[in-house]
Amino acid sequence: MDNKKINISVMGLGVVGLVTGLSFAKHGHAVIGVDIDKEKIDKLNRGIPPIYEPQLKELLDESLKGKLIRFTDDSREAIINSRVIFITVGTPSLPTGELDLSYIEKVARDIAEHINEYKVIVEKSTVPVKTGEKLERTIKRYLKKDIAFDVISNPEFLREGSAVYDALHPSRIIIGTTSLRAREIMSELYKDFNSPILYTTVTSAELIKHASNSFLALKISFINAVANICERVGADITEVAYGLGMDPRINPHFLNAGLGYGGSCFPKDVEAFYKLAQEVGYDFTLLKEIQKINQNQKDKFLQKLQEELWIFKDKTIGILGISFKPDTDDIRESPSIYIMKKLLENGAHIKAYDPKAMENAKKVLPNVEYCNTPYEVAHNADALLIITEWEEFKNLDYAKIKQLMRQSVVLDGRNILNPEQIRKLGFIYRSIGRP
Ligand code: UGA
Repeated sequence: MDNKKINISVMGLGVVGLVTGLSFAKHGHAVIGVDIDKEKIDKLNRGIPPIYEPQLKELLDESLKGKLIRFTDDSREAIINSRVIFITVGTPSLPTGELDLSYIEKVARDIAEHINEYKVIVEKSTVPVKTGEKLERTIKRYLKKDIAFDVISNPEFLREGSAVYDALHPSRIIIGTTSLRAREIMSELYKDFNSPILYTTVTSAELIKHASNSFLALKISFINAVANICERVGADITEVAYGLGMDPRINPHFLNAGLGYGGSCFPKDVEAFYKLAQEVGYDFTLLKEIQKINQNQKDKFLQKLQEELWIFKDKTIGILGISFKPDTDDIRESPSIYIMKKLLENGAHIKAYDPKAMENAKKVLPNVEYCNTPYEVAHNADALLIITEWEEFKNLDYAKIKQLMRQSVVLDGRNILNPEQIRKLGFIYRSIGRP
């Protein structure tokens, strides 16, 4: 059977919205991307992605060339011309830890104002449980005509740095709706993705998203806690994690000990999940412990550095890696930013290098000396800190780095170097959870 081309709009062109839209364009659906940022729209229509993501530029070019996607700031036109509307606007944290849902609510009011026929309205942004119900109520209240619609939940599981791959090859597709009409359209939309689809209620789908991210954060904090024990008893966390991961009930993913999780999702989602639990009368203290362990990883790393350097004031410290993880230029909640801030506060001079994130970093930390290569960072440094596990940091000429540095101290926050080899070069080398 031929594919039915479905008209889609994606409201909000952050990583999730853009990549989601492009993944549907790739499968031949007609996509309109909407954002209020005119400059972004203009750039996207000219094939310039607003962020760095592997394969994003190629997919954007391909979709524009095939006329399968276009970008506009006119939400009215997009709403009228779509059967399915994905809400992918941001849900930033409020100072209270709850999520700011005002952008979502605004899209709901826009839809109510312009809706002209039946639509499936898809909640894709990460939102607290019951947001679907609130969306539906808002649209109903603002609706001027008697037009049918369904609000459904279809959470995303995209990882930054491999968002395009994840969007094209989802591990699972969760569709939260009890409407048969919406279900039919969504199954048609995802027909060619060849991924397992699970149909649930809206509320269950919303909960799956929060529980997934919190569970992954739990795995990371768990392995980091075990890494702390390893340091005290002389065991090696990489061996321990490997052994743990061999049990298929545990699996080897997300068991890399290090400086903990950052990014725009885990920190925000764990906190929001805690708040939500509290609101419904459950004290989910486990989530608080996850956060505490995650914060301690960064502070303990600084403590190790202090043990080596004694005083930070007037020391030159080299930083390799600024983004919160490799293959992205995103620095939100990045351990690197936290560590650099602390060192600057203590009077250190910072030299830093990152393959993609330096432009973003300059905006928040202008007092850092940004370098063109890792070797420039090492020049006259008293210590070199590896904070993000970019592939290129694994294969540097560390013998040359040793010659360039003032003191040969390397702190590896992601366990990417072989301790024996690096020590053989004469470095004082410390990592996470390894003897
Ligand atoms: C995460 C989830 O993995 C996605 O499934 C989800 O869709 C996304 O959040 C979201 O909610 O939008 P992301 O934050 O892009 O994706 O990145 P991850 O690969 O999950 O890494 C998060 C953090 O955990 C990074 O700082 C990474 O360095 C850290 N991490 C990851 C570890 O410290 N150890 C590990 O073993 C794995």
